[in-house]
Amino acid sequence: MAHEATASRPLKAVGGGALRGTAKVPGDKSISHRAFLFGGIAAGTTRVTGLLEGEDVLATGRAMQAMGARIRRDGAAWIVDGVGNGCLLEPEQPLDFGNAGTGARLTMGLVGPYDFGTTFIGDASLSRRPMNRVLDPLREMGVQVVGRSGGRLPLSLHGPKVAAPIEYRVPMASAQVKSAVLLAGLNAPGVTTVLEPVMTRDHTEKMLAGFGAAIEVVTESGGVRRISLEGQGRLTGVADFRVPGDPSSAAFPIVAAIIVPGSDVTVENVLMNPTRTGLVETLIEMGASIEILNRRSAGGEDVADLRVRHSVLSGVTVPPERAPAMIDEYPVLAIAAAFAEGETRMLGLDELRVKESDRLAAVAAGLAANGIAHEEGHDWLTVTGNPDGRGVSGRPYGGGTVATHLDHRIAMSFLVLGLASGEPVTVDDARMIATSFPEFEPLMSGLGGRFEAAAMGGPAA
Ligand code: S3P
Repeated sequence: MAHEATASRPLKAVGGGALRGTAKVPGDKSISHRAFLFGGIAAGTTRVTGLLEGEDVLATGRAMQAMGARIRRDGAAWIVDGVGNGCLLEPEQPLDFGNAGTGARLTMGLVGPYDFGTTFIGDASLSRRPMNRVLDPLREMGVQVVGRSGGRLPLSLHGPKVAAPIEYRVPMASAQVKSAVLLAGLNAPGVTTVLEPVMTRDHTEKMLAGFGAAIEVVTESGGVRRISLEGQGRLTGVADFRVPGDPSSAAFPIVAAIIVPGSDVTVENVLMNPTRTGLVETLIEMGASIEILNRRSAGGEDVADLRVRHSVLSGVTVPPERAPAMIDEYPVLAIAAAFAEGETRMLGLDELRVKESDRLAAVAAGLAANGIAHEEGHDWLTVTGNPDGRGVSGRPYGGGTVATHLDHRIAMSFLVLGLASGEPVTVDDARMIATSFPEFEPLMSGLGGRFEAAAMGGPAA
């Protein structure tokens, strides 16, 4: 909401030469949201370190506070005193999730089955995003939904006297939908089951188990995962919960180092959960020099340091099955693909249409504005690259202004393009970067990237 009240902040990436050094990206956004949600619902205290202090996550923290959790910062740690499962309080005000789909959808699941009213609001981007994917299973559990037709925010939920546990087959590859149903199951008597035909990030399953929930995952024939949760059990705070670095944020310095000549960058403490490593896998297939160093386990997750050097890339076909493991990374992969020899084909991208923006359309428009050859289909994108960084006209890439549509990843992806392109690249609004990666500009500048405040010229593409 705040963003609509203040002026947009155009920003220009003007290159600056080779990127060098070591960087530590902030905590994983998915895990940080869940740390506030699960710490807030568990009995006792959870001490969280490495939390992403981005606006999206802080909105989730405020929502949990509004429902009774006590949350405070203590030096580098966050201390969450939870209410205990089943004991959330009715919030007095609407819960404002700003730009954050994860916060809104997971909280709908968590609080939807309670026998009181909760209202959900968000910014213009969040208010355009589809919520029926979460509301449909909640309705099956007995939750009443009141709002505009079409399942968009603002809307209110009111749970039944006793919620009905359900068995739900997730119709699209979505960790948010899976998680919302499981969280709703926490407050329903009996067993709630989610069937997941295509595996998505498994942070909810792992973390719920860590907080003491009775949850079981079985992989059935055909690879369908059956996730069963016993409702109304006890959740207990975790004394030392560590959030690993976000691979979706690491993607920006990684791709920048690959495409800017002379670069040699190490990104430390990156989450290497296999449900999140699709981009690294794809870049290695394209010929990128990425060394996976110091693999270790931290807080129940695999992490590693990634040493990345400028590389000559070749185009590849990225199969649709890989989409869930890199769903947030396609915009920045498109930028890497612009510098690869030949075509990179990205398939199975239908979910990109319903992210913070229609990311497929936003990426295509940004590529067009900066002279990069590409073709956009209803659920695919092909980028025809050139290691020389010149478009079909022979002119160097860049020179364009990109419309970010309140989407942090569109902003960061095209700023990365501007660090490698012959002409600067301007994004129409850099404010949303603070939702997921507030340190983006200083971190990239520390490695040698250069940014300048920009004036808005003509309309953004
Ligand atoms: C997320 C799941 C993904 C991802 C989002 C975070 C999560 O969304 O795009 O950034 O934390 O569960 P979908 O579940 O809609 O695919």
